[in-house]
Amino acid sequence: MLMDHQQRTKDIITEVDRSLLKYVERGRHEKLIKAMRHYPEAGGKRMRPIMAILVAEAVGKRGKEALPFGCSLELIHNFTLVHDDVIDKDPVRRGRPAVHMAYDEPTAIIAGDALFAIAYDVLASTEVDGERLRRLMRTVSNTVFLVAEGQQIDVDNEDRPAVSREEYLDMVEKKTAVLFSCAAEGGAIIGGGTEGQIADMKEYARLLGIGFQIWDDVLGIKGNIEKVGKPVGSDIRNGKRTLIVVDALERLKGDDREHVLAEALGNSSATEDQVKAAIQLLEDIGSIEHARQFALDYAARAKQLLSCLEGSEEKDMLMELVDYAVGREL
Ligand code: IPE
Ligand code: IPE
Ligand code: MG
Ligand code: MG
Repeated sequence: MLMDHQQRTKDIITEVDRSLLKYVERGRHEKLIKAMRHYPEAGGKRMRPIMAILVAEAVGKRGKEALPFGCSLELIHNFTLVHDDVIDKDPVRRGRPAVHMAYDEPTAIIAGDALFAIAYDVLASTEVDGERLRRLMRTVSNTVFLVAEGQQIDVDNEDRPAVSREEYLDMVEKKTAVLFSCAAEGGAIIGGGTEGQIADMKEYARLLGIGFQIWDDVLGIKGNIEKVGKPVGSDIRNGKRTLIVVDALERLKGDDREHVLAEALGNSSATEDQVKAAIQLLEDIGSIEHARQFALDYAARAKQLLSCLEGSEEKDMLMELVDYAVGREL
């Protein structure tokens, strides 16, 4: 990434962070405020606001106007993370104890709801005409509904022996990609893009988002806990039907080694060694490499959609964002 692009990204993050921390300072309940602030102040990549702002700038030089919109999506993202860690029983996020660990489960549920409420308030402050604001509101509502559906499918899949690739991709599109789509689509709406650009940006982000989630699943198995900031191997113990596992279950049918995966998958009390053996098996049969290639293919397709934009620094940065989302270090 070019040095000045890195600086631009840093500047956007600084602005997003400043706004976010101001937004969550709401109400009088100290414990609730702290619980709401817990993830926003711990950092995070801020990919969704960055995307919204870059797209608004690329289509119509209106990056600044997209800041509240981007922040509202980041608040929604943080709300879903707080609830997700309760759902997945994950104790660590962004290198910190998860909200339900640092506080308690009821507080995590309430803090998530409160972040969601604030997100709508922030969204409503977007400075666009009424027609476009209504469009943004509908897009965001629809997005959050699809995320809920995706999360429910993810949970349902844990108890299903076989999940097809199509079912996996549908789940990932909903739980992860739609929020990226919303960021890019909203950014293009705020930037005053053409309908063609709005549609292409939405599709760009959908492809990026699917690739990103698959890559994230690879990091969840092969990554380094310090770098990823999340526990490695918990997807296995939780029995998550990630693309890696979907692929492995297909390949291993009738294979003697099938039990190595079965012993750890969905077994919350699997030992460290059992999880390691399962991961080694996933590596040996090529399922991890398969998922990596699959994610990289989505990334390449995402990049092609950027051709609807005229050349600009932001367009280049949107290109680099794909490589960052799909290809982050293991
Ligand atoms: C985590 O998203 C949840 C997924 C959709 C995989 P990010 O990886 O964008 O999380 P932060 O915001 O950088 O912590
Ligand atoms: C997170 O999915 C998706 C949402 C929060 C909507 P995961 O459960 O796969 O993500 P991580 O690994 O906990 O970040
Ligand atoms: Mg999770
Ligand atoms: Mg989850």
